[in-house]
Amino acid sequence: MTDIHKGLAGVVVDTTAVSKVNPETNSLLYRGYPVQELAATQPFEAVTLLLWHGELPTADELAAFEREERALRPLDPRTLALLDTLPGTAHPMDVVRTVVSQLGACDDTLHGPGAWTDPELDLARARYLFAQLPTVVAAVQRRRRGLAPIPPRDDLDYASNFLWMTFGELPSAAAVDVFRVSMVLYAEHSFNASTFTARVIASTTADLYSAVVGAIGALKGPLHGGANEAVMHLFDEIGSAERVGPWLDRALAEKRKIMGFGHRVYKRGDSRVPTMRAALEVLLEESGDTGLAELYETLEREFVARKGIYPNLDYPSGPAYRLLGFDTEIFTPLFVAARVTGWTAHIMEQAAANALIRPLSAYDGPEERHVPQG
Ligand code: ACO
Repeated sequence: MTDIHKGLAGVVVDTTAVSKVNPETNSLLYRGYPVQELAATQPFEAVTLLLWHGELPTADELAAFEREERALRPLDPRTLALLDTLPGTAHPMDVVRTVVSQLGACDDTLHGPGAWTDPELDLARARYLFAQLPTVVAAVQRRRRGLAPIPPRDDLDYASNFLWMTFGELPSAAAVDVFRVSMVLYAEHSFNASTFTARVIASTTADLYSAVVGAIGALKGPLHGGANEAVMHLFDEIGSAERVGPWLDRALAEKRKIMGFGHRVYKRGDSRVPTMRAALEVLLEESGDTGLAELYETLEREFVARKGIYPNLDYPSGPAYRLLGFDTEIFTPLFVAARVTGWTAHIMEQAAANALIRPLSAYDGPEERHVPQG
């Protein structure tokens, strides 16, 4: 009898030096550093360099990267034209996935022998996607509201510029910092479904854009990144704290999954949640939205009490993105902008010591048979 590992649960498929998830100690390390320490002290740009290169940058290295990243922010006219072509009804994840595909199709460095997997070119492509995605996501958000895109500013850091391009104004410094923290926490999480998808595609020696397009497809699902959007739909459906109890009774009787709870790896709570919960608290206090705060607390308390299943990162980040002013359908594209750092770090790691990822399956269809003659 062949051993089947449904969903690859518990299967170790390769080594990685990018991050370490330890559910026993409830910790997550990026290149050895606890994610909580990085979230407390580092700009997202520095965390990105850490994920790509393995070390935190020096001040000069960070400044050089910031200059480069700021210069790469503006969108190509072809991207703006594509955004105008796609229907306004398209889900923002589909729009972002399509734009990344177009960026690949328009990247002339992909031509020529060996160009798809050239390490230097891949790093340049990773930088390009990192810089472009906020401008794309901000433009998609504005378009949903019938507003023209706002060009990037080269005097603002990543997090501030992202919010500026989206809203045309900056929130409080504390709110900008909440957004930065969310980007750091979302940046990387070992062999999750989207990262593994990216590694599978990279393992065929296809190009980095193809791997990122595939990863975006995997992230869209509500069992993975789409959960931050799905959490907010749940909050809207429930409406208020006093409705949580009866709503939960019905949802559990119908065997519904409660979005934002549970994790394949963490069974005693997600290591990123306390940091994001504290960040959300800042926004809840600023907004004075006690209704949202009570709904959040009540759903968590009652669901944990009934099922013993804890919130994951999407639970606090969904309400935080709402309080920052984003549409619910933009939450997962924000996750894309952050996770592109982890994806590209893994794509480059895969390429550096590649083995085609090609598992086996146990056939359980009909025995061999033959097409009837005549
Ligand atoms: N709501 C209700 N029941 C749940 C939930 C949930 N959120 N999560 C797990 N369970 C239950 C399952 O129904 C199952 O019960 P059963 O044994 O009686 O059938 C049991 O717990 C085990 O759950 P599985 O789904 O088999 O466990 P798995 O490790 O495959 O699931 C997953 C992990 C997919 C994340 C799951 O917890 C889930 O669907 N959560 C909701 C979606 C979500 O929030 N995803 C975000 C993940 S984190 C991220 O991407 C940042």
